[in-house]
Amino acid sequence: MIHIKKIGVVGAGIMGSGIAQVASLGGFQVVMHDLDSTIVEKGFDSIKKSLSIMMKKGKIDPGQDRKILSNIAGTSHIEEVVEGVDLIIEAIPENKELKTALFHELDIKSPQHTILATNTSSISISAIAAATKRPSKCVGMHFANPVPVMPGVELIRGIDTDDDTVEVAKYVLKRMGKEFYVSLDFPGFLGNRLLMLFINEAFNILWQGIGNREDIDRNCRLAFRHPMGPLELADFIGLDTVLSISDYLFNEISEKYRPSPLLKQLVTAGHLGRKTGRGVYEYETTNTK
Ligand code: CAA
Repeated sequence: MIHIKKIGVVGAGIMGSGIAQVASLGGFQVVMHDLDSTIVEKGFDSIKKSLSIMMKKGKIDPGQDRKILSNIAGTSHIEEVVEGVDLIIEAIPENKELKTALFHELDIKSPQHTILATNTSSISISAIAAATKRPSKCVGMHFANPVPVMPGVELIRGIDTDDDTVEVAKYVLKRMGKEFYVSLDFPGFLGNRLLMLFINEAFNILWQGIGNREDIDRNCRLAFRHPMGPLELADFIGLDTVLSISDYLFNEISEKYRPSPLLKQLVTAGHLGRKTGRGVYEYETTNTK
């Protein structure tokens, strides 16, 4: 098994910054990248906020926050990510064309031994890996938001992923303090095939006027003990991400994933959830992308 020292994270949004944080917590040297340096800065803000919560709750030792931060370098130059990197975890928007183009570029620019992982929530790992000349070294590592809090990660084997790559991914996840479960490479994997049906149906219930947004969510919190209702959760994930995943599952699996007209309308209007200050609900402050 290759020795992992440096991890690159491409995408410094909610997911990417969370992955960079837990990678640093796991003792790895991390470089967090985004195309725009202001997004990288927002990524650091979100890491600082999370570390301060963890400090207050005694989940990390005094001083550990500074160490975790100092192990993460930020950049908008991909060359600084690929240099001497052992594992790259991609966390860019949920779009097949963007992800395959990125994997193609990373394959050309990274050292031969580098493992390329994608945090895709639904897209075929094998299809993304096919954009590279190293499909055996490509793997899916699907984290849940908020990454520093949620313990579970889906580990997805593409059709060509080799055993060594899977073992490295397991080792890294253990060091990050995560639990994992292996899924076959099928659209939506183990989690989002379920979650997207649930969230989408909540939008349909709201659209049909069967109940208001608060009551749809309250019912799930109070009657099912979910930590958040499905509409709150959609705002939390990002309505654009929910729509991209649902569209993908609709095209790849079946009609039952057809995105709700209300979800489409909100995304078209630019109301993407917490990150834009408005989604199903309104928010006072905006978050990172
Ligand atoms: N960093 C570190 N710790 C954090 C944190 C952060 N950013 N945010 C919250 N926490 C901690 C809190 O300190 C608290 O810790 P304790 O239990 O020790 O007190 C705990 O997390 C709960 O937080 P809060 O009490 O502040 O708030 P909450 O009870 O409302 O929980 C939540 C917030 C964890 C987000 C909770 O609402 C929740 O679990 N929601 C569901 C999230 C979910 O389903 N995520 C998966 C989405 S799907 C996905 O990501 C993948 C995809 O493909 C779409």
